[in-house]
Amino acid sequence: LREEALQELEKASSVKDIDEVRVKYLGKKGPITEVLRGMGKLSAEERPKVGQLANEVREDIQAKVEEKTEEMEAAALEAQLASERIDVTLPGREVKRGARHPLTAVIEEIEDIFIGLGFQVTEGPEVETDYYNFEALNLPPDHPARDMQDSFYVTDDMLLRTQTSPVQARTMEKHNGVGPVKIICPGKVYRRDDDDATHSHQFMQIEGLYVDKGVRMSDLKGILNTFVKNYFGAERNIRLRPSFFPFTEPSVEVDVSCGICAGEGCRVCKQSGWIEVLGAGMVHPRVLEMSGFDAKEYSGFAFGMGVERFALLKYGIDDIRHFYTNDIRFLDQFKRV
Ligand code: PHE
Repeated sequence: LREEALQELEKASSVKDIDEVRVKYLGKKGPITEVLRGMGKLSAEERPKVGQLANEVREDIQAKVEEKTEEMEAAALEAQLASERIDVTLPGREVKRGARHPLTAVIEEIEDIFIGLGFQVTEGPEVETDYYNFEALNLPPDHPARDMQDSFYVTDDMLLRTQTSPVQARTMEKHNGVGPVKIICPGKVYRRDDDDATHSHQFMQIEGLYVDKGVRMSDLKGILNTFVKNYFGAERNIRLRPSFFPFTEPSVEVDVSCGICAGEGCRVCKQSGWIEVLGAGMVHPRVLEMSGFDAKEYSGFAFGMGVERFALLKYGIDDIRHFYTNDIRFLDQFKRV
């Protein structure tokens, strides 16, 4: 019986097999249990011998079961380790690194310059009410200047903002008529336009607003001059030309003198030596009043610039659509910007 059991255990090839053999020989219904149970019927002489033998057999089988089980588990562990083995000396796979989008890089650069001049960065909603996008900026319904910016309406009085100027009104309202207000606001704007090399129905603007007691046109000129020299280079100058915006009076368009540049920007530049880069002016008294400021006490200036234009001019990019088509070959060139 012992030999039989030991042989069967030797052949067992899984933990489950071993357990079956154990139950078969040592279980409640197995032969050993049976022998031990039948001890009472034996003579006093035979009893200790049979008992001893049965116990020996049982212990041997039990020992073999344990030995085999351990062997089995060790083999399983070995196999698992082998299958999970990794070669730590293999060279790694290269992770392709992304970079900031050129427009993001330009916005951050411009933000840094204005933060250095004491401005705070704010934001406003892209889906805007007709009131903030037009009315609060001195463009009542039916005002012809609304046609300057063809719009995407969402409902009768909600639209995708056509400019970042509504943030002027929103910010002034929050100040409850108490200055100073000194902010810039970058963000997306939308206009109905046919997309081509120089037009996009969605683009980015950065708005600036400075309202305080005694802010003058010369402050506007000084801030913009400092900004342009910081962004394009110290040799650049600005020039102001009279213009019209309903929310500023007087209004100006601001040109930058041309420097050493490349691409479309330069070609435009070569003819006159100047290139237009932003709109600006002194905040219209009516706009100040509508947003809760006393126009007899406070004055201010505002400006708005197109971010793409600043990027095109600085990097000599010839088509605004490059910014939105996400061609890796284009974006890769800005990794170090
Ligand atoms: N919002 C104007 C535009 O989009 C630009 C501007 C901003 C002009 C602030 C004056 C003052 O054309």
